[in-house]
Amino acid sequence: MKTRPFGDIPVSEVGLGCWQLGGDQWGDMDDSTALAVLHAAADAGVTFLDTADVYGLGRSEMLIGRFLKERGRKGFFIASKFGRFPTPGWPANFSPAVIRQHIEASLQRLGIDRLDLIQLHCLPREQLRRDELWHTLRQLQQEGKIARFGASVESVAEADDCLQQPDCASLQIIFNIFRQTPALSGLLERCQQRGVAIIVRLPLASGLLGGRYTVQTTFPPNDHRYFNRNGERFNVGETFAGLGFEKGLELVEQLKTLVPAEPPLPLLALRWCLDHSAVTTVIPGARRPEQARLNASASDLPPLPMDLHQRLREFFLQQVKPCIRGPD
Ligand SMILES: NC(=O)c1ccc[n+]([C@@H]2O[C@H](COP(=O)([O-])OP(=O)(O)OC[C@H]3O[C@@H](n4cnc5c(N)ncnc54)[C@H](OP(=O)(O)O)[C@@H]3O)[C@@H](O)[C@H]2O)c1
Repeated sequence: MKTRPFGDIPVSEVGLGCWQLGGDQWGDMDDSTALAVLHAAADAGVTFLDTADVYGLGRSEMLIGRFLKERGRKGFFIASKFGRFPTPGWPANFSPAVIRQHIEASLQRLGIDRLDLIQLHCLPREQLRRDELWHTLRQLQQEGKIARFGASVESVAEADDCLQQPDCASLQIIFNIFRQTPALSGLLERCQQRGVAIIVRLPLASGLLGGRYTVQTTFPPNDHRYFNRNGERFNVGETFAGLGFEKGLELVEQLKTLVPAEPPLPLLALRWCLDHSAVTTVIPGARRPEQARLNASASDLPPLPMDLHQRLREFFLQQVKPCIRGPD
């Protein structure tokens, strides 16, 4: 596993997204499978773990806490998020006292003294511009509760709002073969110039880029790919990268005609992200240990050829971009 610098700390260039460990929005997940996924990722060299207080209402963080007890804290970079916990909810979640309370609760569940990174969890745009909120994070940093802070955002415009803060350490963005705007808009370059780390979520477009789904594929009622297909519960872009499921399937079939048979599509999709030097780490979600192992192996692949990148850029601009719903 290769590493890339996250500020002054090397992190694995393939990380692990831990939303699915919550067991409430990606279908069921029992404790033993969750721990097996974490251990499989760690065995494959993954050191970067991304979670949030709201995933399973704290369950994802608790399971990571158990994992860290078993495995040891040293060497892992733990990134969490705040702002979307249902109690007290919006807008009370954005007051200094509640931010502090939520971050303290994350630390307790994780069983650690300091978070390596806390991220604003897709907050409304007006909150991203509130100095009081960033000031609270600076205070928590000075007190040693968090090592650094950043933001998870939905769009390039929101990312640029956060870049107004000179000490925003990272941006977590939606970026994949179906969502290329962060590269094409110059956002990645702006971040790289300022030393702002980029964390890539949805690298597999919620699994579409795994290449295995068909029109017959179904998802259980407690999976956002069932209940948020059209943005019913949160931003439509978070599910299948903002493409409808059927449209997404159609585009995957077109994509398959443009890429070589090897590496397999999910690895090619992860490699595509890693080929952008501004990317610090990609955080695919893995629901099974085999997926975690396979995803980690993207780090061993050579870069994709430039002419393939060019073809995929044209494909995105002509076929995919017009179909994206939600902010881009
Ligand atoms: N607002 C936010 O800040 C936010 C929002 C979304 C995600 N995230 C973060 O990003 C992480 C990743 O989630 P995501 O939404 O970005 O999803 P993703 O990584 O694009 O897709 C994950 C899904 O892809 C499938 N998959 C994983 N590995 C595979 C492989 N090797 N081959 C084929 N299929 C594979 C699995 O689904 P199946 O097994 O069902 O096929 C898995 O659940 C989350 O855990 C979370 O940490 C953050």
